[in-house]
Amino acid sequence: MNWKDNKEGAANIFGSHQMREPAPAEFIPKHKTPAPIAYQMVKDETFPQTQPRLNLATFVTTYMDDYGTNLMNEAVGINYIDETEYPRVAVMCGRCINMVANMWNTPEEGDWKTGAVGIGSSEACMLGGVAAWLRWRERRKAAGKPYDKPNLVMSTAYQVVWEKFCQLWQIEMRTVPLTHEHPTLDIDEAIKMCDENTICIVPIAGVTWTGMNDDIESLNDALEEYNTRTGYDVPIHVDAASGGFILPFLNPSKRWDFRLKWVLSISTSGHKYGLVYPGLGWVVWRDRRYLPNEMAFSVNYLGANITQVGLNFSRPAAQILGQYYNFIHLGMEGYKEVHSNSMAIAEYCHDEIGKMSCFRNYSKKLENPLFIWTMDPIYDETAKWTLFDLQDKLMQSGWMVPAYTMPKNIEDMVVMRVVIRQGMSRDMADMLINDIKNAVEEFEKLEYPTQSRLTFERKEAQKGKVYTH
Ligand SMILES: Cc1ncc(COP(=O)(O)O)c(C=O)c1O
Repeated sequence: MNWKDNKEGAANIFGSHQMREPAPAEFIPKHKTPAPIAYQMVKDETFPQTQPRLNLATFVTTYMDDYGTNLMNEAVGINYIDETEYPRVAVMCGRCINMVANMWNTPEEGDWKTGAVGIGSSEACMLGGVAAWLRWRERRKAAGKPYDKPNLVMSTAYQVVWEKFCQLWQIEMRTVPLTHEHPTLDIDEAIKMCDENTICIVPIAGVTWTGMNDDIESLNDALEEYNTRTGYDVPIHVDAASGGFILPFLNPSKRWDFRLKWVLSISTSGHKYGLVYPGLGWVVWRDRRYLPNEMAFSVNYLGANITQVGLNFSRPAAQILGQYYNFIHLGMEGYKEVHSNSMAIAEYCHDEIGKMSCFRNYSKKLENPLFIWTMDPIYDETAKWTLFDLQDKLMQSGWMVPAYTMPKNIEDMVVMRVVIRQGMSRDMADMLINDIKNAVEEFEKLEYPTQSRLTFERKEAQKGKVYTH
């Protein structure tokens, strides 16, 4: 009998001694715990957390339909690396890489395009970065030049993975500050930072901090001029963690991908707008020539000679099945519909926030289904609350809407962000907007400034700015 049907078992769970004792925290328990009780204990640990679909902080998929979910659950025990045991998983992975590469207009011919699966964009970015570094090193070696001072150029709005990449591989990170005039990568400044040791420039499609896109086509043009003038070969790796699955559907004529000569690799998260549950990234190279041989490792102890590219060895296969299912089920048409809806809902929220006199949207137009806003500077002069208070207030209704400070150079700016994904409806957007309006109404009745406001003003006073209430 299934234990779930065992009514007596269920009654015993809360009658058990485990339920009145603290949960194991330091040592593996000495004795066994019956499965239904252990299950309940683990389940209850996750019970009080917020509703995943109300989490507007994350880019990562929180909703898949039952077919996709079942496929993934059924494959939960499959290790991707066991290609000999599950050869079709490797085939499906190759097909997904083909589809992603073609979606990004790869010029590569042949049945199998060059790419790799990752646990997320982080692994995919690392692989793209390592390939750029090894290619640069090879060229330097061949020219008899030193190869001990590689650098990489991108804007300060980088995602933390690039900091990790540069630390782990000891690559100098050269960052172009975002400014109020240049809310995306300032191309002239980026080019000025390049030299013979630059392994690549990394523009971002779907900047984590703002939701905007760096201008990759103009960067490509500027690099064409720069590389011709200097004789260097500085390429582009596009970090398209979010944009990689948005641009091909919502703005297919925009040239940001392999249609541009200097774009040699692109990474994305299958688990963001690829619409698969967490644990999936993709990286694609323009051509096999751009994937250094040192990055492909072969092992022979799994029953065949297997070559793989990746930082991890074992990895779940379920996400690959989920991605392949989405590609078949949704097709280009379905992806476009889902993302157009997310965009329409994001635009609706953007308009509604823009109508509130206490707020000011950061950008006029949306390029991806996410956006940020700040307090209106005039309103801010007399406000008794901050966006951090609003974040806390919204959390009481289950919403996760993060407030944060912007990167270096404009770090005095506090913003709030919503990321709209599959799973968010217009009705839910109305609930969110209402909750925001209600929260603001309550804040406006405050007699005294909140703690977060006082802290903010103390910091501002140190810089000479004084607020009045
Ligand atoms: C631009 C960018 N790059 C890389 C990443 C890392 O992605 P992942 O969480 O898939 O590892 C993110 C995540 O938000 C991102 O926004």
